[in-house]
Amino acid sequence: ALPKDVTILNTPYTKDDYTNVTSRIVSHIERNLHLQQNHPLNLVQLRIVDYFYKSFLNARRNPLFSVHRSLSPIVTVNQNFDSLLIPKDHVSRSKSDCYYINRDYLLRAHMTAHQAELLLGGLNNFLIVGDVYRRDEIDRTHYPVFHQLDAVRLKTRDELFPNDSSLQLFEAGNNTDSFGGQEKQACHTLEAAKLMEHELKATLEGLGKHLFGDVEYRWVDTVFPFTQPSWELEVFYNGGWLEVLGCGIMRQPILTNSGVKDRIGWAFGIGLERIAMCLYKIPDIRLFWSKDSGFLNQFKTDDISKSITYKEISQFPQCINDLSFWLPDDEFSSNDFYDLVRNEGGDLVEQVQLIDSFTHPKSKKMSHCYRITYRHMEKTLTQSEVNAVHQKIADAATSKLFVTIR
Ligand code: PHE
Repeated sequence: ALPKDVTILNTPYTKDDYTNVTSRIVSHIERNLHLQQNHPLNLVQLRIVDYFYKSFLNARRNPLFSVHRSLSPIVTVNQNFDSLLIPKDHVSRSKSDCYYINRDYLLRAHMTAHQAELLLGGLNNFLIVGDVYRRDEIDRTHYPVFHQLDAVRLKTRDELFPNDSSLQLFEAGNNTDSFGGQEKQACHTLEAAKLMEHELKATLEGLGKHLFGDVEYRWVDTVFPFTQPSWELEVFYNGGWLEVLGCGIMRQPILTNSGVKDRIGWAFGIGLERIAMCLYKIPDIRLFWSKDSGFLNQFKTDDISKSITYKEISQFPQCINDLSFWLPDDEFSSNDFYDLVRNEGGDLVEQVQLIDSFTHPKSKKMSHCYRITYRHMEKTLTQSEVNAVHQKIADAATSKLFVTIR
């Protein structure tokens, strides 16, 4: 029989039909790369915090923003979704995208999960940094555990309009705004929404400059359930547009549900790996998890804004094997297969691509062919080592996902 409990950070949780977190994923929880001195993710995080400390001072010339780096990655469904007004049927809640511990708990899928609880605690300006967990494809820029920094800034009427007592934050909301569009929220005055947008964009353009120097950037309209309007900032870097963050004006019910009645807010979330890979020219996201001193020593510095270019320790050869199978008649998601490959192959797997998919004309059975690229970060793999891992993956796919190897 299967064990009924799963223990994470010394707490037992009862498993149920939602449980899909694996022991391999859980083993990442206590690494806390963003807290590890001289780790590139620690350096990037410090650079962003440094920018906020310098840009926002209170009347006593102390930093305005508080920083929260040690919040537990185990959150409730309410924290990760409901408190942020994410609809019950939103795709981001699906079992194939998140690591659920059970129906009530999951590993946070974004740092925004902590926004409402910190508002409830009375904070007006804060940064949250930590590890987040998402089921995803496998390649050199995707890993199921990565790191984000989120920010929230609230302003009162007097703070937003210090020189004009006639301007207001709120007006009677006629319900003309469409959910999730680029229109301002009905409850906000146009002046308040526009001035907040201006401060948000100026702050983030400044952050882009602080990190990347004088770069070209562009704003792209987008939607998030928890902000309206919402934007993404893209930076032109190494010949292409790189999406660096998501942001927007906070949906007012998030504030009122947390007891905040007299403020308007902006928020953003930024992925740290993406930034570090660009800044330091780190070619593969698995390197962040390396314990090899050949990697870590390259980031030893007293000056967090020093320019560092990662030099590859060496480039070991790839080994490519394909795996074709018939899918089971009932549910199958590619993310289930990617997780299984991570479990069995660990960090030897550099990439998994679905290279062919077809349905048999008579039996109507579906077939998938995946190309698995193996490469060790620190040594050359032999063909027999790779074959052994490849066979383990095939066996596990047969017994756990009920596929039929062709
Ligand atoms: N949580 C969003 C993400 O993970 C980023 C975000 C944070 C967007 C805050 C808007 C406001 O992509």
